[in-house]
Amino acid sequence: MSGPDNTPETTDQNPLSPEVIERHVAAALTSIESAGDLEQLKAARLEHAAERSPLALANRSIGELPGKEKAVAGKLVGQARGQVNKALGARQAVLEAERDERILIEETLDLTTARTRRAVGRRHPLTLTAERMTDALIAIGWEVAEGPGVEAEWLNFDALNFDKDHPARQMQDTFFVEPAKAGLVLRTHTSPGQARSLLERGAPLYVAVPGKTYRTDELDATHTPVFHQVEGLAIDKGLTMAHLKGTLDRLAESLFGAGVTSRLRPAFFPFTEPSAEVDLVCFVCRGDDTSCRTCGGTGWIEWGGCGMVNRNVLKAAGVDPDEYQGFAFGMGVERTAMFRHGIADMREMIEGDVRFNEQFGMEI
Ligand code: DAH
Repeated sequence: MSGPDNTPETTDQNPLSPEVIERHVAAALTSIESAGDLEQLKAARLEHAAERSPLALANRSIGELPGKEKAVAGKLVGQARGQVNKALGARQAVLEAERDERILIEETLDLTTARTRRAVGRRHPLTLTAERMTDALIAIGWEVAEGPGVEAEWLNFDALNFDKDHPARQMQDTFFVEPAKAGLVLRTHTSPGQARSLLERGAPLYVAVPGKTYRTDELDATHTPVFHQVEGLAIDKGLTMAHLKGTLDRLAESLFGAGVTSRLRPAFFPFTEPSAEVDLVCFVCRGDDTSCRTCGGTGWIEWGGCGMVNRNVLKAAGVDPDEYQGFAFGMGVERTAMFRHGIADMREMIEGDVRFNEQFGMEI
C-alpha cells in the first residue's frame, strides 16, 4: 500500500521541518503581496502572523522539543516570522501611501468653483473716505452738519459773499434748477453748509459738513459732474490761521499717516480772507524724489481750499465779526480717496463695478 514518495510527506508533516516552515512563509508572502488594500492586508496578517497562524503555532510547539533541536527550530521559526513581519510592514507602508494619495485626490477642494455662500456687502470707498474725514474732526470735538443737495442760490453764493456779477459765480459752472425764479441750484460746493449751520446753531461752532456736490463738468479721469466734499468750519473767539494750519495738519496725518502735513498757498475765495489753497506733503515720495510721478517732483500735491472766514459771511449769518472769527476749509472726497488708495481714474469710483468696491470695503 505504501507509495514511493511516502518519505517526503512524512517529513512535511513535521510542523517544524524547514520545508513546512518555508511553505508557510511562501503562503504568507503571496497573500501579503496580493493584498490590494489595508483591509486585505489586515486579513493576511490575521491569517499568517496572528496568534493562531501556522507560524505562531509552530513557534509554540518549539517548547516541547529537546534542548538542541529547540535552538535549531527556534532560529528557523524566528527567522521565518521575521521575514513575514518585515513583508507585512513593507506592504503596509506601500498601501498606506497609496491610500493617502487617493484621499488627497478624492478630497481635493476646487477653490475656483462658484461659491455657494452669499457674498458679504462692501461699502463704497467714497463713503468710507468721507466718514474718515468727518471722523477725524469728530475726534477733536467737532459736530457734523448736513445740508440739502438742492440748495438756495442765496446760501450757495450770496451768503458766501459771491457778488451778483462775481466771476466766481460763472467759474462754478452751476446747474440751475428750474424755474429760474425759484432761486435754487444744485449745490456747487459744501460751503453753503457754513452759512446754514451758523444760522441754525449760532456761534461758537465747530462743524464738518460732508455732502454731494454738482458742477457741469464732463466726466473724465479727473472730473465728474457729481462729486463729494467735506467742509470744515470753526467759529470762536480768537481763532487764527495757526489754528487752521494745526487742524489741517491733524486731518492730513489722520488720513495719510504721520509726516504728511500741509502747506498753504495764497489764493482767492470770496468767502474767506485771506484765502489759501492747501497742499499736502507728497504721500508717495515725501518730497524726496524729484522725478516722482505723483507730485511731479515738487514734493506737494493740491488737496483743497481754506482761509479765515470773511466778515461778510459772518454778518450774513447773523454773527458779529468783531466778536467771533474763524476759519473754513473744503476738500474733495474723490481726490482724497484717490490719494489714499492710489486710484488713478475717477471713473472707477462711479461705475458701480462691485469688484472695485470689494478691494476697499472691509475698512471700518
Ligand atoms: N468751496 C471751495 C470749492 O469748492 C473750497 C473751499 C475753499 C472751501 C476755501 C472753503 C474755503 O471752506 O475756505 O472750491
